[in-house]
Parts: sequence; C-alpha cells; structure tokens
Amino acid sequence: MSQSQSDGAPSTSNRTPAARAGLSDPNTIVFSEAQLAEVRRLQALYPDTRGALLPVLHMAQETFGYISLEAEEYVATLFDLSPAHVHEVVTFYTLYFRERPGRHVVAVCHNLSCHLAGAPGIVAHLRQRLGIDPGETTDDGRVTFLTVECLCACEAAPMMQVDDRYEMNLTPAKLDQILRGLA
Ligand code: FES
Repeated sequence: MSQSQSDGAPSTSNRTPAARAGLSDPNTIVFSEAQLAEVRRLQALYPDTRGALLPVLHMAQETFGYISLEAEEYVATLFDLSPAHVHEVVTFYTLYFRERPGRHVVAVCHNLSCHLAGAPGIVAHLRQRLGIDPGETTDDGRVTFLTVECLCACEAAPMMQVDDRYEMNLTPAKLDQILRGLA
C-alpha cells in the first residue's frame, strides 16, 4: 500500500454535521478545549507563533491518526496561515503521515554515516522480510516502512527509529529480533 494519496481536497462542506457544529466527535477534525489551551501555550513560547507549528502538527497526528487535508485546513486556522503553507510543512517532513500508517512505523536512516555503516543492507533486509518497499505499509497494517534523513544518532550507525524509540548498531539478526517484537 503506497503512502502517497490523492490530493482531492475535501471542502468544508464535506465535513460531518458534528464537525461543522464543533462537537467532540472522534470522526471530526476538532481539538478538545484542553488541546486548544495547549496550542495557545505552545504558541506563546515563540516570538512568532509559527514556531509551534511542528508540535501542533504532531498533536494533530496523534489525535486524528494522520494529517489529512482537512486536518491541514484545521491547523491552518489555528495559526492564521494558508492551508497551502501547512501542506508544504507536512509534505516536507517524513514523519508526518498523510494517510493512516501501520500499527508500527519503522524508519531507517539512510544518511551518510548510516549509509557508510551498512544502511543499504539494513534497508534490503527489511524490504525482504516485510515484502514491501520504503514508503509502503504491509497489507496486514502491521508496519509502515520508511527511509529518512539523519536522526542525529550517527555514533550508533546504522540505526532506525521504531515508533518512539531508537534502535541502534543494527545487524540483520537484531532486525529480525526487533521485527518479531512488533505485534
Ligand atoms: S546519518 Fe544516520 S543517524 Fe546520522
């Protein structure tokens, strides 16, 4: 399953009645009052409120599962930005998902230090074990496989991020052990 998706932008009129009413429905793109207070707190930390855009996008991803075009529109309203500006940010960073990712995200660094330390072999091993290419999700929804730029752990190359943790000094045997632990 490719991570890419159609760019058919949903219009505001496509939102559910609950969303248009701002109700707290899990299917709507609306933050809770507590989350909105957190958005305001983050924005106040920066001389330019746009400094809080990345953490707020992470909040949106955790809340809604991924960053849909509708979520981009919603976050844009919180920052008084254009949806196009937010879209550019979302598509620039690899760890914002534009469709629902697998239950686990495996992101292999393929930048210089990791490349020299064997990242191509790590990527090839994962491709063979998972049966998918980078940017794809296994058919059972278990793993989304990505290749990403430097994750600032070059001293432990080759490395990857699995969900919220770093796995370092990778070898094929260690990869297999890690994959067995992903339910
Ligand atoms: S190059 Fe891979 S962590 Fe820096």
